[in-house]
Amino acid sequence: MFARRTASLLAGGALALAATVLNAGQAAEAATSLPCDIYGAAGTACVAAHSTTRALYSSYNGPLYQLKRASDGAVANVGLLAAGGYANAATQDSFCTGTTCVITVIYDQSPRHNDLFIEPAGAAGPANAGVPADALPVTAGGHAVYGASFSGRMGYRHTSASGVAVNGQAEGMYMVTSGTHVNNRCCFDYGNAEVSIADTGNGHMDAINFGTECWFSPCVGQGPWVQADLENGLFQSDAGPSKNSSYTGNAAPFVTALLKNNGQNFFATKDGNAQSGGLATRYAGPEPTQPGYSPMQQEGSIVLGTGGDNSNGSIGSFFEGVMTSGLPTDAADNAVQANVVSVGYGGPSPVAGGTLNPGSTISLRATTSCCTTRYIRHQFDDAVTSVVSSGSSALDKSDASWIVRRGLANPSCLSFESRNYPGDFLRHYNYQLLRQPMDGSAAFRSDATFCPQAGKNGQGTSFASFNYPDRFLRHYNNTVYIASNGGPDTFDATASWADDVSWAVNAPWAP
Ligand code: AHR
Ligand code: AHR
Repeated sequence: MFARRTASLLAGGALALAATVLNAGQAAEAATSLPCDIYGAAGTACVAAHSTTRALYSSYNGPLYQLKRASDGAVANVGLLAAGGYANAATQDSFCTGTTCVITVIYDQSPRHNDLFIEPAGAAGPANAGVPADALPVTAGGHAVYGASFSGRMGYRHTSASGVAVNGQAEGMYMVTSGTHVNNRCCFDYGNAEVSIADTGNGHMDAINFGTECWFSPCVGQGPWVQADLENGLFQSDAGPSKNSSYTGNAAPFVTALLKNNGQNFFATKDGNAQSGGLATRYAGPEPTQPGYSPMQQEGSIVLGTGGDNSNGSIGSFFEGVMTSGLPTDAADNAVQANVVSVGYGGPSPVAGGTLNPGSTISLRATTSCCTTRYIRHQFDDAVTSVVSSGSSALDKSDASWIVRRGLANPSCLSFESRNYPGDFLRHYNYQLLRQPMDGSAAFRSDATFCPQAGKNGQGTSFASFNYPDRFLRHYNNTVYIASNGGPDTFDATASWADDVSWAVNAPWAP
């Protein structure tokens, strides 16, 4: 269902590198060559360029995405802070104050105007919803921006795209996604798909797939993998299954996933950590051997977040992506990856740590005398308290660090986003505290909102549940709950309640 436990092993290491990347990202804000400048200069112009976080051409200064708010149905565009720069997320924050917004359009920055609209019903699934606009707050280039977080039945499409490869023409594409918000259902895709939103046969798609769905056994490791959705199959090689026994997947919080296909007799997949390092080629070789893929028969529609026929059981994250006309060179791919890394996705938060100001990263330490070296951290999707110290692993430190966000149900209260699982928040369920991806529902928003007040034992801060205001975040037997002072459950015990609901707000273990 949600991201697998093994994912966090890789995630911690990735985060350790993030801090060094950010300074480069801030310095590169006026960078001259953004991904579509790079691909254009290499002779493979972008025919689609979508992002909710930044410009993908250094000269672009138009809108990135359109919002629609629930209160009155009004729409507004979110643009850039500067030409070639980052999203002006303040537009979203003020337009959506006191209500909720979904993303209704992700604009194409390329001259083709292949904007992505909420995908209507297709052969394999009902009409989609837009993503909740505030579900994936991240940092890019030192700025607070929003990614697009897909829960079930969310997706976008442009069914009559201009300039996108058809009938065996060559193309390339990449997206920046996340390895921590994935599942094994069909199909979290970005790329070329059918005009009719139906499965019209082998070779009628050419899209990046990223997830843990193993279409052709055996798969190596647990994923998530970069795969080629070429219709009727998520390919890791011409045969289907992976031929790369060392590629067990990429579970980093920010992943660059890439596919290119000459439309005739060659395709390749690559991925890399979007926060550091280069790309690795996972497959490069002939088209699938089954009939229909050689030559390819692409139709030139663009899909994001579902399968070609609108199978929409998948989840995923999207920050930016482009499609090109023509097969990009490896040198251009590498330059694009270097530019992505320079952004410093998910880098240190813009507000200094250790305060409850939105944007700040914190760690929450227990104040009960038993437990003053214990911090709230996630482990196996639950929130627990663990001893964390300067000698702890990078993973433990990241798991115990939380980014303070404006309350998802009430902006004068707070929500807590995981430091190493972008878009996952602390929420209670059956009164227990869990880490889960924000699905945009009213229930999730309420369950993930906490209102701070003075610590009940005279120390630090206590956090009242927004929807159960007599219940406060409490550790009990090292598990975290929302507990009332006396009540039906064992974790409501009055003994040491005041201490257990009082937390020291500390500087984060993982800034
Ligand atoms: O190829 C995998 C999926 O199969 C496609 O995305 C979808 O159209 C079909 O169901
Ligand atoms: O945690 C208490 C309640 O349990 C939550 O509000 C709800 O999501 C679940 O039913």
